[in-house]
Amino acid sequence: MNDSMSLEDKYLLPTYEKFPFALERGEGCWVWDEDGNKYLDLYGGHAVAAIGHSPAVVTAAIAAQSAKLLFYSNLVYTRPRAEAAKALVDFCGEPGSQVFFCNSGAEANENAMRIARSVTGKKNVVVAEGGFHGRTAAAIAATGLKYRKGLAGLGADIVHVPFGDLAAAEEALKGAAAFLLEPIQSVQGAATATNEYLQGLEALCGKNGALLIFDEVQTGLGRVGAPSARHAFGARPQMQTFAKALASGVPAGAVLVAPEAAAKVKPGELGSTFGGGPLACVAISATIKAIVDQNLTENAAEMEDLIRSTFKFPQIAEIRGKGLLLGLVLDRPSKPTRDALLKKKIIVGGADDKHVIRLLPPLTVGPTEIGLLRGALEEIFAAEPVAA
Ligand SMILES: Cc1ncc(COP(=O)(O)O)c(C=O)c1O
Repeated sequence: MNDSMSLEDKYLLPTYEKFPFALERGEGCWVWDEDGNKYLDLYGGHAVAAIGHSPAVVTAAIAAQSAKLLFYSNLVYTRPRAEAAKALVDFCGEPGSQVFFCNSGAEANENAMRIARSVTGKKNVVVAEGGFHGRTAAAIAATGLKYRKGLAGLGADIVHVPFGDLAAAEEALKGAAAFLLEPIQSVQGAATATNEYLQGLEALCGKNGALLIFDEVQTGLGRVGAPSARHAFGARPQMQTFAKALASGVPAGAVLVAPEAAAKVKPGELGSTFGGGPLACVAISATIKAIVDQNLTENAAEMEDLIRSTFKFPQIAEIRGKGLLLGLVLDRPSKPTRDALLKKKIIVGGADDKHVIRLLPPLTVGPTEIGLLRGALEEIFAAEPVAA
């Protein structure tokens, strides 16, 4: 074991299962470990490196900003914050919407739930089983996966219903403040909502005076081949939450609030010291500009088409998801295949659904890198007959 790995294992709580290498640097879709090995990163640094690893436009922006003003809180106006909020509103095509900045996806969801409760004066938040919304108290209570185990009592006002079940949603939404939904349940394994489900939820929320919140922490910023899942599915939530790719790796989260709800948020209701800090905000603006300038949203849609049309292996039973948030559902548990890919220096993700290989590559990925994955899978599958 090399030194960084043994040091981490000694001094950090053992909360994560890790890949067996220590990374030193990254560029585009590639990362290098401390021993000089080069890996193709089709996990995108956990869906964060949307415009590639250590993109020059972001590193230059944060270097310049750090020399000018590293930080001041929301007690003052700053140009970087103003520009980042405008960039997000413009990118999402939501004129009149307003932004609350925080530092992570969990915080964005916490704040969205708080906004929904204060705007509606109601308490319950309805969520779908299989969704992942973060690890803070309300966010974990809203998480319909195993991570909630042992936290009974937290979030008594969170109501879980089956994903895709409009009748259950209708019942649970009576008197509720909001429905919080991950339109493509990434951690679950890219389980994908239908247009009918999302449009049905929108109508049910409207009928019950509840707000619809899309957790776009993974689906936002062009990854699904559209600016966000809201566009990909043609549904109109009152709030969308963002994090992960938002600032290319500088911690940042955001809640985008539609005008009617935004008008009801009162001063002092929400707050964050670091949220909207200048460093994160210049990174947000530079990231969004790169997504637009390099047509990465369109590229995500094209690479999805390429994967769907060329990954015709009998071992892949189904491809779930949209754009570059994809779940390859194998006819067997995916761990041995993922391990074999790692031996070939290709990083992919697993999921709660043990049969799924999750692809979350940088949106800059091209046919060459997709071809490398395809070729590697071909070799691996050749040695693995189709499951009975
Ligand atoms: C859909 C979704 N929402 C929220 C979160 C929580 O984000 P964070 O880890 O930044 O708190 C995650 C993290 O994986 C996520 O995938």
